[in-house]
Amino acid sequence: MFSLRKIGRGLVLPHKKIERYIDIFYKKISAKSDEPILDFGSGTLFWSEKFAEKYQKKVFSVDTLYEKKKPTLKTEKISLFDNIGKMPEDARFSMIFTCDVLHHIKPEIRKEILDRFIQTSKLIVIKDIEAEDFCGNLQNKIHDFVINGEKVYDIYSKDLRLYFKEAGFKVRIFQMKKLGYPHFLLVAYK
Ligand SMILES: C[S@@+](CC[C@H](N)C(=O)[O-])C[C@H]1O[C@@H](n2cnc3c(N)ncnc32)[C@H](O)[C@@H]1O
Repeated sequence: MFSLRKIGRGLVLPHKKIERYIDIFYKKISAKSDEPILDFGSGTLFWSEKFAEKYQKKVFSVDTLYEKKKPTLKTEKISLFDNIGKMPEDARFSMIFTCDVLHHIKPEIRKEILDRFIQTSKLIVIKDIEAEDFCGNLQNKIHDFVINGEKVYDIYSKDLRLYFKEAGFKVRIFQMKKLGYPHFLLVAYK
């Protein structure tokens, strides 16, 4: 399952572009911070490993998958958690990042997670699939269902924009289409 995801990601995800955007905001908002990075729904640790190496920070990698099987760690900078509730309660983050996770989470639970995000970081970066794009979103739903057997809950960047603005964050949204997949990268910062 992991390797299929890896191959799929390389084909459909503009990850170099995403990295460049993250870099700009990380340097602007969090470069001087000593706080760890939270990678929520970190899966194979693709992003966690990048962040640990690039920013030389500790990374808290949270994924429900780790309850059954923990990935092999390539660096001591990464700490694994199988539930966001198991992280230290007082943990604060120089960045919270989540890639293609929120569309797998029911909207009411998603709200609880976002509420925790805004209380614990000044920089929150969300990469997800734009439900506003009906055809592209449907393509992703079929992909997730056929390849991973996973259900998708629609997610609209405009709703997230409103949520973060009301919480006092500035918001930038970048739309990037690749092979028909309508990716958005939302950056919320203070
Ligand atoms: C599509 S994968 C993305 C993995 C990784 N972010 C990446 O970009 O390679 C979605 C991941 O979210 C995880 N996930 C789903 N619901 C979660 C939750 N409530 N808490 C933590 N992880 C969750 C899944 O186990 C899965 O590994």
